[in-house]
Amino acid sequence: MTEATPGARPRPGAEVTAAAPAKINLTLRVGGRRADGFHPLNTLFHAVDLDEQIVVRDLTDGPDQLEVVGPQSDVVPLDGSNLVLRAAQLLRQEAASAAVRALPPGPVHCLIRKAIPVAGGLAGGSADAAAALIALNQLWSLGLDHGRLVHLAGQLGSDVPFALLGANAVGTGRGEELTAVTANRPLHWVLLTSPVGLSTPAVFQQFDSQPGSPPPDASPPRISPALLAGLRSGDPWLIGANLVNDLEAAAFALRPDLARTAAAARAAGACGVIVSGSGPTIACLAPDQAGADALAAKLAAGSAPGLVRRATGPAPGARLCPVY
Ligand code: C5P
Repeated sequence: MTEATPGARPRPGAEVTAAAPAKINLTLRVGGRRADGFHPLNTLFHAVDLDEQIVVRDLTDGPDQLEVVGPQSDVVPLDGSNLVLRAAQLLRQEAASAAVRALPPGPVHCLIRKAIPVAGGLAGGSADAAAALIALNQLWSLGLDHGRLVHLAGQLGSDVPFALLGANAVGTGRGEELTAVTANRPLHWVLLTSPVGLSTPAVFQQFDSQPGSPPPDASPPRISPALLAGLRSGDPWLIGANLVNDLEAAAFALRPDLARTAAAARAAGACGVIVSGSGPTIACLAPDQAGADALAAKLAAGSAPGLVRRATGPAPGARLCPVY
């Protein structure tokens, strides 16, 4: 990651662009609800090459401005609840602290170029937040190092630190405590997206209300060693057989059509099929690149246009984009 020199601002009117990836949870093991409303997790994050982009530039006056372009841009909140504007606010507070010797940041224009489905279980909003942290750190010459950005990311959302880190990582706590997992063999995915999103809090609530849900504060089950072995060796069949998502039953209860989509993907020859995060996206693992292309073609034939996408992981975390 490029780090800015504190005090050395980019030229006036300059734009900074950053990108951050979508994620799939290869495992999502969920424990009992904590007193703060979050659930303790043991998860294995895997970043895929479906990027969200953020472009930021300083404004001379007025409030912050947020613009969204791309698919589903009309359903993205433009108010202060948007994680990009919250990232800007958090960095302003950081800039005001004694540890950061930077000029006080003014208002900013942020453009989100959406590519990740909204409320799809792929952490698109978290990718926006991670890209915004990187871009504004550069635009405002804050000079914050990666560790500090990861700490701030955890304040914005459980999945934001992973969007900064990328590749593969085990997430514990509420998902924000990360340990990188080295495994660079590519995995080839077909993502079955949905035109209507699922609310993450609603899926966790459904999980809590289901028979057999863990008691408050119960620890999550551990990540299967077979999955970790499969990831390290790059064996898609071993990985596919060990994909687990404890939120899957809750997502299927809220959206019974997803169970049928998952069954169709299994029947079409995927090595493994899993609901991504809290859904509704269904991630289908293929044996190799050609297998993924063939699986995508087969599944697209029975699906509405634009809902079947190819993706490959692991992908890098949030990064600055070169200016051409
Ligand atoms: O951290 P984030 O803002 O992305 O979480 C959104 C919501 O998802 C939380 O308010 C909570 O309802 C649920 N959640 C949870 N346990 C987690 C992560 C998220 O219950 N570990």
